[in-house]
Amino acid sequence: MSLPPIPLFDLQKQHQALRTQLNAAALDALNSMRWLLGPQTEKFEETFAELIGVKYCISCSSGASALQIALSAAGIQEGDEVITTPFTFIATTTSISLTGAKFVFADIDPHTFNISAQDIERKITKKTKAILPVHLYGYPADMAAIMRIANDHNLKVIEDCAQAHLAMADGVKVGGIGDAGAFSFYPSKNLGACGDAGAITTNDADIAAKCRSLRQGGRVKEAHYEYEFEGSSLRMDEVQAAILRVKTQHLPHWTEARKKIAALYAEGLQGLPVALPPTPPNGFSHAYYTYTIRAERRDELQEYLKAQGIGTAVYYPVPLYRQPAYKHLKYKPQDFPQTEKACREVLSIPMFPELTENEVARVCESIASFYQK
Ligand SMILES: Cc1ncc(COP(=O)(O)O)c(C=O)c1O
Repeated sequence: MSLPPIPLFDLQKQHQALRTQLNAAALDALNSMRWLLGPQTEKFEETFAELIGVKYCISCSSGASALQIALSAAGIQEGDEVITTPFTFIATTTSISLTGAKFVFADIDPHTFNISAQDIERKITKKTKAILPVHLYGYPADMAAIMRIANDHNLKVIEDCAQAHLAMADGVKVGGIGDAGAFSFYPSKNLGACGDAGAITTNDADIAAKCRSLRQGGRVKEAHYEYEFEGSSLRMDEVQAAILRVKTQHLPHWTEARKKIAALYAEGLQGLPVALPPTPPNGFSHAYYTYTIRAERRDELQEYLKAQGIGTAVYYPVPLYRQPAYKHLKYKPQDFPQTEKACREVLSIPMFPELTENEVARVCESIASFYQK
């Protein structure tokens, strides 16, 4: 008898458990006739700001728009350079291009897969105006070093928190460390909407006000047809806000469940030729959006696990500077040895709050049996 498959992530279980509440919340929002920027949005923003520990939360249509709005609100514009990582989802760089600025890549740190602070320093020019670190897989970038560099060079810091809800560095949650943080509530994220949604978090009143304006055309406060900036229609809708309000209550215990699963993996994978995710020191917290290992013979292992019914993924097989969309920029792969190596070696294995102890054990046993072959 073959064993049931173990997916990389499973949205079914979570959705089924909350279905009654989600249906009621969505229907209420639908029937309220307040479909944009109504009470659901306002209450969600209050709750999320409190959860992250910041003064302001401005909801918007996606993680990509959160990044774009945050960069523009921080004053990034044409002619500026923004230093970021090439080992990320393309929305990170698209958001920079949409402001008119140019992105400049720094290589990654081999232990955390996040942008290397040393390489950031090497890439600073007179045009550099901001650093955009990504807290990849849910582990915080080296924010102490990044904030030091930003202070020394008078740069803005916009954190890409799309994968890192409730992650923490030096006792402060990500999204509250730099000038602003950008969150995604894409359905598969640690906090996922039932559609597209995102938010910006900040402690800066001016950035917050500009974000509120930019998400609706660049409008001056409540004046309907007076525009201070060139914005766009990038609002989150009330139905998504109502759904996110239900799910936000569960985010802390879902995050704890992810941590427990990570601890089981760390135990079960001991002694195998795989490198485990970084262990967070005191004051740091990993959100485990993914559980990503470095594995010898990665592609063969992935095939082997697939044959055993175990879902995996490679985030990311091709770095951004080698994407067809960026071919014209003529980046040299040899300038990013750590990114190149990570693309060849990383493998994300099943991780979601409802994953059972038995399933984790089965994944570990399958990986062990692959290396014993
Ligand atoms: C690192 C990173 N940045 C930005 C985004 C963009 O978020 P969204 O899909 O909500 O636009 C994502 C999500 O897919 C992401 O993983």
